[in-house]
Amino acid sequence: MSQFWKPGTDRPSLLDDEEGGVLFYSASPFSSSSSSGYGLASLEKQRQRLPVFKYRTAILYLVETHATTIIVGETGSGKTTQIPQFLKEAGWAEGGHVIACTQPRRLAVQSVASRVAEEMGVKLGEEVGYTIRFEDITNTDLTRIKFLTDGVLLREMMDDPLLSKYSVIMVDEAHERSLSTDILLGLLKKIQRRRPELRLIISSATIEAKSISAFFATSKRHQGPESEEDVPSTEPAILSVEGRGFNVEIFYVEDPVSDYLQATVSTVLSIHDQGSMGDILVFLTGQDDIDAAVRLLTEESQIGRKQGLMVLPLYSGLSRAEQDLVFSPTPRGKRKVVISTNIAETSLTLEGIVYVVDSGFSKQRFYNPISDIENLVVAPISKASARQRAGRAGRVRPGKCYRLYAEEYFLKEMSAQGILEIQRSNLVSSVIQLKALGIDNILGFDWPASPSPEAMIRALEILYSLGVLDNDAKLTSPDGFQVAEIPLDPMISKMILASNQFGCSEEVITIAAILSIQSIWISARGTEKELDEVKLRFAAAEGDHVTFLNVYKGFIRSNKSSKWCHKNFINYHAMKKALEVREQLRRIAQRLGIALKSCESDIQVVRKAVTAGFFANACRLEPYSHNGMYKTVRTSQEVYIHPSSVLFRVNPKWVIYNSLVSTDRQYMRNVMSIDPSWLREAAPHFYQHQRPNPIAH
Ligand code: CDP
Ligand code: MG
Repeated sequence: MSQFWKPGTDRPSLLDDEEGGVLFYSASPFSSSSSSGYGLASLEKQRQRLPVFKYRTAILYLVETHATTIIVGETGSGKTTQIPQFLKEAGWAEGGHVIACTQPRRLAVQSVASRVAEEMGVKLGEEVGYTIRFEDITNTDLTRIKFLTDGVLLREMMDDPLLSKYSVIMVDEAHERSLSTDILLGLLKKIQRRRPELRLIISSATIEAKSISAFFATSKRHQGPESEEDVPSTEPAILSVEGRGFNVEIFYVEDPVSDYLQATVSTVLSIHDQGSMGDILVFLTGQDDIDAAVRLLTEESQIGRKQGLMVLPLYSGLSRAEQDLVFSPTPRGKRKVVISTNIAETSLTLEGIVYVVDSGFSKQRFYNPISDIENLVVAPISKASARQRAGRAGRVRPGKCYRLYAEEYFLKEMSAQGILEIQRSNLVSSVIQLKALGIDNILGFDWPASPSPEAMIRALEILYSLGVLDNDAKLTSPDGFQVAEIPLDPMISKMILASNQFGCSEEVITIAAILSIQSIWISARGTEKELDEVKLRFAAAEGDHVTFLNVYKGFIRSNKSSKWCHKNFINYHAMKKALEVREQLRRIAQRLGIALKSCESDIQVVRKAVTAGFFANACRLEPYSHNGMYKTVRTSQEVYIHPSSVLFRVNPKWVIYNSLVSTDRQYMRNVMSIDPSWLREAAPHFYQHQRPNPIAH
């Protein structure tokens, strides 16, 4: 099939799939420099071989003498796991102080914390601990190194605005520029002015750090020459840790692929057929397509044709045991295939990867302030991400990266950096947090990158209609402060507050807990029909929220049985997690003075409480629609009920939804039917000026 190779390219790949699925050709390698890989050394030896080890003294010196130190180093060079330990060894955790290290992702927090505890030979949760939302594995007296999400650190500021217990805060994975990271950087810059003794370390896998450095350099205070000895320099120091990657040879598809899932499967199988050793890391977009790929590949390996494949998923929400499998060494004679979201791009390092398969996509949040629609979209990644993904193949020896897109596309169409999350997000949660921290002038806040004014205005408008902000855009008391206090989306928090007056807090808290879990159903390609049938056992005419209540009741009645879950296509781990979240929310509710009360079978009050939070997401069925088309009440956007909803095809006239996902259309997920009169009750300001009047029917 050599006539398919692109002229002028070297080393045509052997990967010509017999079924004609995917053809690759190779492009020039992009990465150089190499050093020796790991042997079977002790943990301590492994530590000493990491690139950051050579920079230990330099890092500690810079941290001592600079308020902010920026450390750039390739993924796997030891930034996350080693630097907090260096700091501890140098005494930064003495006098009861704590060293913090933030991550954008929950799974990364758990994973690096347990690795560091292991390296230090301590029990996780004692000297080394971690905190993610709804899970605090720390000990106030013992914990000296604490890993946490950037979102959790933001929340901690509500109780301790100067974060006074921390001596050093390391903001890790800063190149990702997640929404919470950016807000955190803005606030830390403010804190620094009040606490000159606080040290910041900002670590990044790419030189994107430059713009962050510029942000910290423009401090209003202490500009110019070095000040007295004991005052640290306010100019950030930048240290680049030399990488240790091996060459990675890149292959592109000859022709664009139409089904990247199928292309992934056939590429993995072809690599396996070639026979040479090494694990495979595949980048797909989310739980759905990862589960589907895992299933397809597992089937292949079970029918005997492809023995020796050990196929594992990697995404947030995995159980502890599933995570451990991914990180444990590959058994002899096996080849691990890890199918991951972009969490494995820079946050986590997997040893032993020699092949990377890059779909070219990831799930990204996009918010349009004009239509007021936010959704999770499967979108093309940036060149920077593509390079990071490829780099994962060169950890232990020279590797190969198979890109499921054409070279032409990579060179000419892929964007260099992508859009910052802060510029494509709904800002409702961020604005309320800044307000709760006393930052009244949101527009004048010193942002590392400015969000759009439209998005800020939209956020203010929603918060005003939720009764969280008053006419002067200050938090209302007590509602505003209470909503800010609950670590959930403000719409969900508002729903919980409203449940107090409707006397149904027990039910609404259950709903809130389940909404905070990705999905409680077990779904896989090929079992949709069975799942749909099972759902009918729980389905409520009022919609998904009430259905969740039925599932919860069934689970409790079964005595929290995993067998019962299995029989009903319900994810047991998700339900256990929901129960934990529910307990924590009950405690928070009690603290806020919300009476824990059940409405028993009066479901209407539950729906009213949900509406009190989600009125802004109201939609109306188009009067003559034959295909279930709805329009949003606010901005007349076309939306449809997602096939996974129990209201799919039922199409009640008025609904509200929890979130949108966009594929070929905008689909509403978690939908509930409502009476339109509740909208006015819930938010008179929001709905009084609608034209044409949608409430008139
Ligand atoms: O943060 P950075 O990407 O620079 O590296 P790191 O996460 O500190 O990882 C350094 C090394 O620790 C990796 O090469 C892995 O070998 C090891 N590690 C591990 O084995 N298990 C983990 N859960 C985390 C790291
Ligand atoms: Mg790291």
